[in-house]
Amino acid sequence: MINRELFGWVIENLVKNALDAIDHDAGKISIKISQVKSKVEIEVTDNGKGIDLKRRKDVFRPGYSTKKRGWGLGLSLSKRIIEEYHSGKIFVSNSIPGEGTTFRIIIDSPHSVS
Ligand SMILES: Nc1ncnc2c1ncn2[C@@H]1O[C@H](COP(=O)(O)OP(=O)(O)OP(=O)(O)O)[C@@H](O)[C@H]1O
Ligand SMILES: [Mg+2]
Repeated sequence: MINRELFGWVIENLVKNALDAIDHDAGKISIKISQVKSKVEIEVTDNGKGIDLKRRKDVFRPGYSTKKRGWGLGLSLSKRIIEEYHSGKIFVSNSIPGEGTTFRIIIDSPHSVS
């Protein structure tokens, strides 16, 4: 039900961003997948530097980057892939400056569990 290649690229980008956000030795990245009723939720969590509340919308804007060599394209393309191609949602579900960030993807599941 998903485009493997595009979906894989989205996950790769989220993990790359998580890696870039971690600026200490005890870095941790986790990926959680769960089924909630007729939806599948995928969360990518890091314990990196976090995103300011004011910047949470900006991160999906094409060209927005805080990195020296960043294009600011990873998240804007990810959003298009998830929302336009898979009719899903992607958003920052939680982020605390200095503690970490969770991105969540929600897509329809082909199998419904009640
Ligand atoms: N997990 C994260 N933790 C903290 N900040 C993040 C995280 N993911 C994204 N960001 C912020 O959002 C910005 C935009 O991310 P995006 O992936 O679109 O671009 P980029 O990583 O800067 O460059 P590109 O992906 O095009 O190489 C980043 O520059 C960073 O400031
Ligand atoms: Mg990126």
